[in-house]
Amino acid sequence: MSAVCVVTTGHRAGAPELKLAAWFSARLGVPLVPRAGLSLPALVRRYGVSGVLVVSARRASYFCNGEELFFHPSLAKLRISEIKAGKTDWMIKAMALQPGDWVLDCTLGLGVDATVASFVAGNRGRVVGVESSPVLAALVEHGLKTYSDHASRELIEAMARIEVICADHLSYLKELPAESFDVVYFDPMFRKPLPKSAAINPLRFVANPAPLSVQAVQEALRVARRRVVMKETRDSGEFSRLGFTRIEGGKFSPVAYGIIKKRGGNG
Ligand SMILES: C[S@@+](CC[C@H](N)C(=O)[O-])C[C@H]1O[C@@H](n2cnc3c(N)ncnc32)[C@H](O)[C@@H]1O
Repeated sequence: MSAVCVVTTGHRAGAPELKLAAWFSARLGVPLVPRAGLSLPALVRRYGVSGVLVVSARRASYFCNGEELFFHPSLAKLRISEIKAGKTDWMIKAMALQPGDWVLDCTLGLGVDATVASFVAGNRGRVVGVESSPVLAALVEHGLKTYSDHASRELIEAMARIEVICADHLSYLKELPAESFDVVYFDPMFRKPLPKSAAINPLRFVANPAPLSVQAVQEALRVARRRVVMKETRDSGEFSRLGFTRIEGGKFSPVAYGIIKKRGGNG
């Protein structure tokens, strides 16, 4: 069976790039192939794959269908400075997140929400991010541990604390003991994508597009001590389909957060 992708390096690779490329290759269980002066389309043709993960001195990126996907904390930086300035972050509010809390992010994606949650939960808290796309999980696991460009110490530490698990969230949830996380969070790919979501665009080629299942929400309710939160577009029918009766969000924001509080939970 041919691999979905191959790993290679930039045209002028040194020992550090080769070492990291070998790590990605082992992590993904796909071949590490020589760049051999070839263009990315030529590599795609030669190995019959849909994408190529390239490790260069600058960064590690996944190229697929003309899009480049790489780790970047993007909006997490801004959201953390707004939280520090006392502004409301609607996800944090929906989670009622406090320092020391444990959060299970079942749809890690690029790790933006997880980074903001990790900042608020702090070094006494714990954030575990589950991502079913192996390429994304590997890129984000590496990015969260190594990103440092113009980043503050608290951002670097918040990212580094996140534990990345590559798995389907339903299988992972089933393995967890009851009430083992304060908050379980879902941000599945929106049923109706927002037109201007440039940050999500490169993600579409690797992301799991499946709708959130009722079973996953039930398992999340077992695993959560306090609440289960889901992000979707404001008028999405997913909230009622999945039993999220309480919905919060910014007045002018196209997205909102559905909340299911645990009966008897204190928040
Ligand atoms: C909209 S993105 C999440 C973005 C993320 N909240 C962030 O801040 O970067 C949804 C992610 O959930 C992942 N996903 C969807 N279904 C999943 C499942 N069953 N198990 C694990 N991850 C899943 C997708 O692959 C995608 O990366």
